[in-house]
Amino acid sequence: MAISKTDSILIVGAGAFGLSTAFELTKRGYTNITVVDRFVPPAADGSSADISRIIRADYADPVYSRMAQEAYAGWTTEYKDQYFDSGFAMLSQTPNNPYIEESKRNILAAGGKLDELPDATDLRKLYPSVQANLAGMSGYHNPRGGWANAAGSIQQLASKCSVAGVSIISGPRGMVLSLRRAGSRVIGVNLVGGQVLLATQVILSTGAWTNRLLNMGQAASSSGQPVGFIQLTEEEALEMRKIPVMINMSTGVFSFPPTPDTHVLKLARHGYGYATNATFNVDGVQKTLSSPKFESSNATSGYIPDDADEGLREGLRQLFPKLGDRPWLNRRLCWYTDTPKGDFIIDHHPNMPGLFIATGGSGHAFKFLPVLGKYIADCFENIAPESLRQKWRMIPPQGDSMAPMSGDGSRGGPPLRKLSPLEQAKL
Ligand SMILES: *[C@@H]1O[C@H](CO)[C@@H](O)[C@H](O)[C@H]1NC(C)=O
Ligand SMILES: *[C@@H]1O[C@H](CO)[C@@H](O)[C@H](O)[C@H]1NC(C)=O
Ligand SMILES: *[C@@H]1O[C@H](CO)[C@@H](O)[C@H](O)[C@H]1NC(C)=O
Ligand SMILES: *[C@@H]1O[C@H](CO)[C@@H](O)[C@H](O)[C@H]1NC(C)=O
Repeated sequence: MAISKTDSILIVGAGAFGLSTAFELTKRGYTNITVVDRFVPPAADGSSADISRIIRADYADPVYSRMAQEAYAGWTTEYKDQYFDSGFAMLSQTPNNPYIEESKRNILAAGGKLDELPDATDLRKLYPSVQANLAGMSGYHNPRGGWANAAGSIQQLASKCSVAGVSIISGPRGMVLSLRRAGSRVIGVNLVGGQVLLATQVILSTGAWTNRLLNMGQAASSSGQPVGFIQLTEEEALEMRKIPVMINMSTGVFSFPPTPDTHVLKLARHGYGYATNATFNVDGVQKTLSSPKFESSNATSGYIPDDADEGLREGLRQLFPKLGDRPWLNRRLCWYTDTPKGDFIIDHHPNMPGLFIATGGSGHAFKFLPVLGKYIADCFENIAPESLRQKWRMIPPQGDSMAPMSGDGSRGGPPLRKLSPLEQAKL
């Protein structure tokens, strides 16, 4: 059934996927768009929150590398107030790391320039204030790339959506309990308070929480990734202000330069993360599936598992030896929505008409914010190239088990660990 521009479109989830879709659809002339979320964007426990996200075109997969180069044009114009072109260094303890080698090829093939670092200690020739002992490591530095203020970018996009006529509803009236069905067709959502929102098309961009509304089975699962923040003094921040975003591909730990005004240093781990589950009623059936908490968020309580803290602390000692014992200002788990190969899921649901899915960020979608909506809208309007439709297709579940996550080769550190019930209670 063809979608008309006056059809009501209800987007669940006001993160990078949901808001970028809403904004793009208004540009394409859709006139009745509503976005609902539990929280005013950016949601504190969402994966597009807090002070920073890496912006890089350095991808082993040429599709994402090209997309990220396209997004870069948006970061340096439309989002220039949110973006910091600090440079990006990808380093590994093992020589010829395949992800780094493929990324290099993709950047060079696109005419990009980079500084090869067969001996990573040469990074200090570019950035003398890098503290890390880089002996024995190798990789490269890309002067194009850096980081963006995540919360600021989402706020900017949410405002643009409002101005363009999108209704954004948050709080209890934006908390979706379940999909509303008429047979196999999805006709809207049921809200926690009992109200109903009807729509011709429902778009789920619910990230790590997607299982609450639709059993994703093998298609996607949530994983928590540790993040830590360190308060620097003004002097320290000044000394460290010219460092690139750095990732140690061997541990998955990466770091950002200090934030310009608040002097906060952030580290995180791009790894296999921590699994969590919850029991809830999905589509009329009680299930225990992968999902973070829904009703409340302890995002600001600062709990992360002990081994996650140790991993981050070790990463801090390696990347910033002078700050090795500095206490965390705050810590949190950032929820990834992992898919088996790290590909997004952007598709009409194969057997539920009226439902479109845009999720599966797998910890790497934020950087596409300036162009993500365009790609999603192309899939929504069935005009995306067949290769992308296939790459991002929704594979209906065959059981409740979580997706085996082999990833895209970019992750480091220990394998996925299931949180114990005690640990989960603290989240
Ligand atoms: C938008 O869609 C909703 C749900 O179908 C409908 O109730 C509402 O009147 C529509 N608004 C406009 C401006 O067409
Ligand atoms: C999830 O639930 C099952 C029981 O249904 C349990 O065996 C498993 O350990 C739980 N925890 C995680 C993090 O998957
Ligand atoms: C990178 O990770 C490796 C492997 O754990 C470690 O030996 C090395 O010290 C780390 N280097 C930096 C600079 O983080
Ligand atoms: C996390 O939130 C729950 C409420 O959902 C609360 O009871 C618990 O104390 C919180 N835990 C921490 C460590 O803040």
